[in-house]
Amino acid sequence: MTNDTTRINQAMNHFDGQEAIWLFGYGSLIWKAGFPYLERRPAYIHGWVRRFWQGSHDHRGTPDAPGRVATLVRQAGAICHGMAYRITPEALGPLDVREKNGYLRLVTELHFEESERSEGLVYIATEDNAAFLGDASYHHIAHQIAHAQGPSGPNRDYLLNLAAALRELDVEDSHVFELERLLPPLAPIKE
Ligand code: SIN
Repeated sequence: MTNDTTRINQAMNHFDGQEAIWLFGYGSLIWKAGFPYLERRPAYIHGWVRRFWQGSHDHRGTPDAPGRVATLVRQAGAICHGMAYRITPEALGPLDVREKNGYLRLVTELHFEESERSEGLVYIATEDNAAFLGDASYHHIAHQIAHAQGPSGPNRDYLLNLAAALRELDVEDSHVFELERLLPPLAPIKE
């Protein structure tokens, strides 16, 4: 399954001409930047919750056995905490490729400590993209994450790294922490 959003994202021109823009990360972009940035600050956005509802066929799974990675789902009154990066617009090129399996750039308002705010970008995979898997029981999602792996590594590492990064930021996220709790232990290696 493919739903390559690279071209759609690269046709977006909301920050053309600006020297630097803010990018909000809420999943792997919190703990694995992998791109150059000018500044990095904890931030949050309003009206969204983090959910492991997006299929990963290219990073943490395969077309035959997709993994599950984070996307954001609208929820009135919710706050999603993550990490913001001030980047130059050139950094978006490789990011569009990294997020190509269904994520689209969205312009949103980012909030920082001390009531500071700024417009920025976030990559979101909405329910109408081909790789969207949607809701399932916690047990089902944890089981799928435990067994999937792709070119970027085991799906379980994505979840565990995200949980650790959120803890480091002092962020409470019951969805992520419940999946972490339910993740079956790694099977022992047979000799
Ligand atoms: C993000 O981290 O902001 C987007 C989803 C991901 O790459 O894991």
